[in-house]
Formats: sequence, C-alpha cells, structure tokens
Amino acid sequence: MFRLDHIGVVVEKLEPMVELYCRLLNYPPDKVEYHDVPSEGVRVAMLKGNTILEFLQPTDPDSGIGKFLAKRGAGFHHFCYGADAPVENKLAELKANGFAVLSDEPRQGAEGRVFFVHPKSAGGILTEFVENE
Ligand code: CO
Repeated sequence: MFRLDHIGVVVEKLEPMVELYCRLLNYPPDKVEYHDVPSEGVRVAMLKGNTILEFLQPTDPDSGIGKFLAKRGAGFHHFCYGADAPVENKLAELKANGFAVLSDEPRQGAEGRVFFVHPKSAGGILTEFVENE
C-alpha cells in the first residue's frame, strides 16, 4: 500500500498560517516543528497528525518555491509519499517506467532523502517521494 507522508503548501509567511491551522485543527503550537532548508531556499513548518502538513515559506525569491509563489500564489504545492529505502530504487523504477523525475539523484529534504516527479507525469500534481525511516 502507498503511504501519504505529507502535503506541501506554499505560504508567504509561516507564522500566520501555523497560527490559523493550530486553531483550525486544535494542534498544540509548541508541537510545531520548524526546519530551515537553505539548499532549497525554504523555511518549513510541520504539523504532524496522521499525515503531515508541510508549510513552505521561500527564503530566496529565486528558489523553486519562491518562483512558485510569485507565479501561482500561495496554496497547495505537492503530495509526498513514502518509499522503501534506499529511495534510489524508487527513483530508478519510475525513470525506467517513463516518469519524468526532477533530479537523477535524491537530495536531502527537511526530513530525509527525497526526489520529485514532474507534474506532467503525475496528472498535474507535483509528487515527492521520501525515504521511509
Ligand atoms: Co515535501
């Protein structure tokens, strides 16, 4: 079975969105996890329920997330599914089956090694895979 690891949502600013979703979902503010991912030009906040809400704020307007925000505005960005370790195997399997992947190697995300499938190969939805722990 597949496992939805998290849902990525792009925001202009993390704090108001975190505050809103803590109230919407009765999520304790002190349980929110923040990560800086300078390599991706983003700051991330995570609310962990039976899946994870990943709010992404660009720290660099030229990053992928920065460009997304400028072009499309805030809102839904991607789904992320778990993949058995090593995640390279899933990447190779998808490539061999004709899926367009955004990199030839996984990279380090906020919580583990990840790669992305282009929306054109996934029904218009940017799709991430993260290595299962
Ligand atoms: Co993600």
